[in-house]
Amino acid sequence: MRNAELKAVDRLIVALDLDSDKEALRVVSELGSSVGMFKVGHQLFTAFGPDIVRRIIGEGGRVFLDLKYHDIPATVAKASAEAVKLGVSIFNMHALGGLEMMKRAAEAAREAAAQRSLPMPVMLAVSILTSMDQKALKKELKINRSLRREVVHLARLAKRAGLDGVVASPQEIKPLRRAMAEEFVILTPGVRPIWAAKDDQKRIMTPAEAVAAGADYIVIGRPVLRAADRKAAVVKVLQEIEGRQS
Ligand code: C5P
Repeated sequence: MRNAELKAVDRLIVALDLDSDKEALRVVSELGSSVGMFKVGHQLFTAFGPDIVRRIIGEGGRVFLDLKYHDIPATVAKASAEAVKLGVSIFNMHALGGLEMMKRAAEAAREAAAQRSLPMPVMLAVSILTSMDQKALKKELKINRSLRREVVHLARLAKRAGLDGVVASPQEIKPLRRAMAEEFVILTPGVRPIWAAKDDQKRIMTPAEAVAAGADYIVIGRPVLRAADRKAAVVKVLQEIEGRQS
């Protein structure tokens, strides 16, 4: 499907950043098909393993497995094949793992999907973590080009490796959209609905702004998880994306 044709509901990914599997499954059953996907990250996965992913899928939820693989090519290739077998809809890896790592991962994932006639997940690269700033990039990693240029460079590398897109902060959406073709997927966390607290997110956009800037998918955690009525919070976010303010 062309990204521009995604419906608001398909664009919305809720981050299950929780320490309880019961609570995670409660969120899945509360929100059901009113969100496109659920993000399982390091916390939930480390505590409850692949079983939590299977249970979410068993409840009818689609899963973005946010484990940001970064290891030698053979290891990431094998992990990527397992992500396909697990049935996730999106998974990711660090672009800083290099071209060979990303290529081998993409090949292994495609092979696993073809062998078992499984649907192919969307494969994304994480470029530079948004917790890194320009100063850390230069002083610690000794990367001299600007953060934005480095992010676009790594996106091109991911594309060359056969990945489908990147995870990008709101600030990076526009430069990436300018540099990459329309079908290149951009998934953006760090968004905040108009009505929500910023929490520790500093450089934020609203969901509607992120989509207008060119994001295909947006990830939201706390504003939905902490809402007294999570379903109502999701409906408000969807209305914002569709440009209908309630
Ligand atoms: O609760 P909140 O909406 O801030 O959650 C956003 C999710 O996206 C979290 O799982 C967080 O780890 C992830 N994330 C982020 N900012 C980034 C990259 C990932 O908030 N730059």
